Amino acid sequence: MCGIFAYAGQSTAAADMILDGLRRLEYRGYDSWGWPSATMAASSPRSRWVKSAARPSICLRVRQASAIPAGRRMGASPSKMPTHTRIVPAGSPSSITASLRNHDELRREVLASGKHDFHSETDTEVVVHLLEDALAQREDQPEAVVDAVREVFNRLEGMNAIMVLDSRADTLVAVKNGSPLVVGYGAGSNYIASDAAALLPHTKKVTFLSDGEMVVLSPDGVLTTSVVSGELRQPEITELDWDVEIAELGDYPHYLIKEIHEQPAIVRSIALTQGELAQKLADMVRDSFGTFFIGCGTAGNAALTGQYLFSRIAQHHVNFEVGSEFGYLEHFLTPRSLVIALSQSGETIDVIEPLVRAKKEKGIQIAALVNVLGSTLYRLADFDVLLNAGPEKCVLATKSYTAKLAVLTLTAYAMDGRLEEGKELLLGAADLIEEQLNEQQKAHIAELADRIYEAEDMFVIGRGLSYAASLEAALKIKEVSYIHAEGFPGGELKHGVIALIEPGTPCVVFAPNDETRGGILSGAQELKARGAYIIGVSPEPSDAFDYHIRVGDAGDASPIVNAVPAQLLAYNLSLKRGTDPDKPRNLAKSVTVK
Ligand code: F6R
Repeated sequence: MCGIFAYAGQSTAAADMILDGLRRLEYRGYDSWGWPSATMAASSPRSRWVKSAARPSICLRVRQASAIPAGRRMGASPSKMPTHTRIVPAGSPSSITASLRNHDELRREVLASGKHDFHSETDTEVVVHLLEDALAQREDQPEAVVDAVREVFNRLEGMNAIMVLDSRADTLVAVKNGSPLVVGYGAGSNYIASDAAALLPHTKKVTFLSDGEMVVLSPDGVLTTSVVSGELRQPEITELDWDVEIAELGDYPHYLIKEIHEQPAIVRSIALTQGELAQKLADMVRDSFGTFFIGCGTAGNAALTGQYLFSRIAQHHVNFEVGSEFGYLEHFLTPRSLVIALSQSGETIDVIEPLVRAKKEKGIQIAALVNVLGSTLYRLADFDVLLNAGPEKCVLATKSYTAKLAVLTLTAYAMDGRLEEGKELLLGAADLIEEQLNEQQKAHIAELADRIYEAEDMFVIGRGLSYAASLEAALKIKEVSYIHAEGFPGGELKHGVIALIEPGTPCVVFAPNDETRGGILSGAQELKARGAYIIGVSPEPSDAFDYHIRVGDAGDASPIVNAVPAQLLAYNLSLKRGTDPDKPRNLAKSVTVK
């Protein structure tokens, strides 16, 4: 959730570069940020911290009037600037935030020494005081900072990534546990960031640090060692194949709408390039003794869809559970169990934590559907399918969702020996998504948003394959428009929820041309009879609909195509209600705390 960006090099534009790096990390979620107000030039090693609760992108615009130093003041001496953004998991930015599990114990110890005052309530401050003590014992030793960081890091429990600027040696020292850190290699300059997307303007040559690996960065090189033993490690250097433009807005006003538009190309590319991986994954499912799909939020909705897809297409039972509950169902796991974890970021703690435990204690096999190369899940899994959806900068998951559905659909077809048919289905689905994105259809959905944007509650129903689609549509609407929206299996309404329907309550009804159509339309009629305003998402019109969003008939790929009008509706509701489509309140892109 927090973001670190640091640079070791000669540029006089380091300040702008670093603020830009922070801006590129904003989407991960943050509520404040800070950095040393002076670069660590050897000639002026002292610094003070600048902190702000404003966004780095805003600060970039107002930098001239602020306390942030301009690059030109830095001179040409080597400069290294670690900076970070942070987000508070709960409460206000000034409340205590503990991602360090033993923070309380360490803080008590530091206070008891009587040598330090705390200036904040953040858990990371304790690290600085411990470092100061560790350094005091090593005065004048050549490797003092590296050794001190090693000693302190080995005392920390819980997920963290720390970076320390050694102004005497002109180096940056970084180490991590759980949280991601990526090293970027440039010519005469090196970088470190929490996310590869922030490095793209500078380099595509990167190393994803492993837990317990320590790096020492200078403008001239990067030294990697084991933080436990101090032994040298050979870093694994990866070449990113993302273009810098893919992480930029281009002509779009928001990342949300940009990423919605990228979906046809991504689904097409999965159809054309991921067949072999889908077949391997299908074989793993066949060979396993029990397969579990897990994921959180949108990824959980994709995992639930997977259960229906495997049942319907491959007549094979798989289990589904949301990541945060999976840990309570681990009793049934054996070394022959296969857990397929779905995650855009590959960092979601509610997915990673139960997986790590189940791998250690039960010896399970892990496969991952993941968008971020080198992420924690990517490295943890025995088998990876990279979604190749490109960086997803909007906090709302859109293209990573349809990409996961595309891979799952292909895998279910592969399992049934019909891989080529699955590919054709996806290519057809990509065309049908494009139809949803033409100007006329977008205007039709914008008009719907105009009619319903003042609603306080909305309901979304679907059955079978469309049940998870209804959960996902409701999630998109609520997280970006803040309208209370709930998704339900169509058949469940009459068991309670129907009591909430009032005259004019908007209800979205997914009615594809499949076995669920009759049942869902009669549910829609029941809602209509209670005054609900029925929005039908369907290839065919119906008397039950007050507003019809026509979608092409995508067969088994209907969850992929039907996701798009729901995403467009959520986007338009956000515009009408004046919320930020890319950074909804209280949400972070990468949820790395429990
Ligand atoms: C919703 C959304 C979240 C994520 C969830 C899991 O739009 O983005 O619900 O889907 O936090 O994130 P990943 O996929 O990174 O594990």
